Amino acid sequence: MEAAAPVKETNHTRILGIVGSPRRGGNTEILVDEILAGAAEAGADIEKIILNELNILPCQACDACKDGGECVQEDDMSELLEQMERCRIWVLGTPVYWWGPSAQLKVFIDRWYGANQALFKGRTIIVTIPMGSGNEKTAQHIVGMLNDIAGYLGMNIAATVLVPSVHRIGAVRKHARVMAKANQVGKQAVDGAS
Ligand SMILES: Cc1cc2nc3c(=O)[nH]c(=O)nc-3n(C[C@H](O)[C@H](O)[C@H](O)COP(=O)(O)O)c2cc1C
Repeated sequence: MEAAAPVKETNHTRILGIVGSPRRGGNTEILVDEILAGAAEAGADIEKIILNELNILPCQACDACKDGGECVQEDDMSELLEQMERCRIWVLGTPVYWWGPSAQLKVFIDRWYGANQALFKGRTIIVTIPMGSGNEKTAQHIVGMLNDIAGYLGMNIAATVLVPSVHRIGAVRKHARVMAKANQVGKQAVDGAS
């Protein structure tokens, strides 16, 4: 992970966009950006990371983290967990890949196993999922997985923005209503948090 710019200390709600697509400027990133833009308009400080550009290794199930130690992986995850800690709201974005999330998002979530579970309790998340199919049911496994994880960890899913019929890069920009909804969802999450 490159050295990050120093974080400006403010009392504003901080929101972190987590992009699970490897395609820069793709539909997932556009949706996450629009949710962040709405949040910024409501006065939040925004941050964004691209999972594909971080070095996040898969969980090895060694259970060192459960045996009183720390995760044995030496990668960008510990710095990312610190960034997550200081952001009250997280935006999780993933495209549908084979009826599931992207590998990048799944590897990242598997690593929550080794994190301090107190990090998640009471956290607000917003989910956004673009997909090529015309039927938003295509995202049902991801939605179900995230709902179950949120219930288990005590997180609150404030909104889920599903976007069918977007395949080509940037296609979501043509869906004005979806873009307006994404912006609104970002605003409302911040208004609800403050
Ligand atoms: C490896 C791969 C698998 C995909 N699998 C599905 C799928 O199962 N269902 C679907 O509706 N779209 C599928 N898609 C299409 C993407 O969900 C769609 O293009 C999405 O808008 C991509 O988001 P992005 O622009 O952020 O990368 C797949 C795309 C890729 C590259």
